[in-house]
Amino acid sequence: MAGKGKSIEDLAQAKGVAGQILSLREQLETLASARATQRVEIGKKAPPFRFGTLSCTHFGSIYEELGITKAIYEWFAQEGIKTVYHCGDMTEGVQMRKGHEHEVHKHGADAQVDWVVEHYPYIKGVTTHLISGNHDEAHMKNGGTDVCHRIGEKREDIKYLGADVARWVVSRAGQEKDIRIDMLHPGGGSSYALSYRIQKIIESLDSDNKPDCLLVGHFHKAFTLPAYRGVAAVLAGCTQRQTGFMARLGLQAHVGAHIIECRVLDGQIVFSSTWRGFTPSKQEIPIIE
Ligand SMILES: [Fe+2]
Repeated sequence: MAGKGKSIEDLAQAKGVAGQILSLREQLETLASARATQRVEIGKKAPPFRFGTLSCTHFGSIYEELGITKAIYEWFAQEGIKTVYHCGDMTEGVQMRKGHEHEVHKHGADAQVDWVVEHYPYIKGVTTHLISGNHDEAHMKNGGTDVCHRIGEKREDIKYLGADVARWVVSRAGQEKDIRIDMLHPGGGSSYALSYRIQKIIESLDSDNKPDCLLVGHFHKAFTLPAYRGVAAVLAGCTQRQTGFMARLGLQAHVGAHIIECRVLDGQIVFSSTWRGFTPSKQEIPIIE
């Protein structure tokens, strides 16, 4: 227990229990940071780092768009993309609100995991790196199941990075500056202005730990903010068509995905994003009688 006027850090200077606690805390923090940080090392003459990003596939929802998700991966493959970042809400989840069970065609964690494992697009050589979102985490709250972890165990092309956030550090041999790319699935609702929430998120970032590129799921919107506090941010869109819930709230669904390229030029990160939208086919919308 910390003495009066002394912090645990003060006490840790001396040997004893407090030192052990601090050491354990440091170890846990280091472990958490190592788990959340992924590294990519590219060759000196490799082309600029390019990847695809998407979010909010909501598999198991009656509003899911399997055909569009597949078409997005075919587009990625045509463009030579090998790395895809999925910014959360792989599954529709459970009990999101009163009556939500009527918007779900696969009920419960087992059924939604199986549905993703069977139907999520697979293209040889393309790896999807996944964080979980609030819909995936509803399974955890409901029954203690980390569905994204289970999906990652069953699909060798889907690598689960953890809940809500992950960081990538892209290093090029012989180049001093790395490129930091964060994936984020935030909470909260949308705002009328597309830039508002993303600006507030960027304003909340520590100045010494900001990413160069921030990929944001959750909002089901597509938007690019190329330079705000030195961060290039992308709202990743979704592959779930507008739900009844969104229609009632007057919220659009931006269905599609991005291909993003980042490179270092004269010590600065140069960033470009290409959005491709897909229009949901009317025939695929289930008719509920
Ligand atoms: Fe979502």
